[in-house]
Amino acid sequence: MEVIILENSDAVAQQGAQLICELINKKPDAVLGLATGATPITMYQQLIARHKANEISFKDVTTFNLDECLGLPPDSPQSYRSYMQRELFTHIDINVKNTHLPCCSEGEDPRAVGPDYERNIAAAGGIDLQVLGIGANGHIGFNEPTSSMASRTRIKTLTAQTIKDNEPGNDEFQPRLAITMGIGTIMDARHILLLATGEKKAAAVQAMIEGPITSSCPASILQMHRYATVLLDRSAASKLNLEDYYNWVCRQNEKLYEEYGGFTEW
Ligand code: GLP
Repeated sequence: MEVIILENSDAVAQQGAQLICELINKKPDAVLGLATGATPITMYQQLIARHKANEISFKDVTTFNLDECLGLPPDSPQSYRSYMQRELFTHIDINVKNTHLPCCSEGEDPRAVGPDYERNIAAAGGIDLQVLGIGANGHIGFNEPTSSMASRTRIKTLTAQTIKDNEPGNDEFQPRLAITMGIGTIMDARHILLLATGEKKAAAVQAMIEGPITSSCPASILQMHRYATVLLDRSAASKLNLEDYYNWVCRQNEKLYEEYGGFTEW
């Protein structure tokens, strides 16, 4: 795992956008795994700005989102499809046909959505870079604590904490079920880019990086990924025991990059 601690959440967004741009410039038909939530919004704004400045095109890019709420029509403003349209897709030159979420259309058996999604990811050649946030309880996607580390895309029941964390703050329908990529699906991505900002994530971040690998903290499985980059602001990093070491490693890596170019495995 490469742990990079940055000054603030804007720097996290900048560096995340930079990594995505580098990938797309190298591989214009890259397959991106995308996340929703509050954390990646500023990074998406950075990508939009870079697109508008003609620095990057998404016209051949394919995307697969991590998850979608079950029981919401895709055009509901609360759906993750609506979030993606609003926060990213309508502002860039991506072909909407190449953007995928594990949605369950009306009349469709929700249990069939997962296997279909897995087949579509495989047919696209697998995910080159998967963007992740982290839940305060250590979940990734909607893989709540005790999820199988080998799981594939399927229906999950959300914990009371996740339901509360995602509350829209009004009387709107609050989903209790979701369809999410499994932990096994996420681990198949060739590069993982996890972003975490704010004090509320500090305990989960510490458990993910320095705790044991356990399904009680699903994100801890990323310790087994060959190429995972974790971008943190100071608050999200505040409970790490080895912060000085991570900063020291980053300084060494900068020198190595200058001399030999980027690495692809950690
Ligand atoms: C949600 C999503 C995750 C997201 C996480 C953190 O429940 N399913 O994909 O990463 O919680 O969200 P936020 O960035 O809003 O803190």
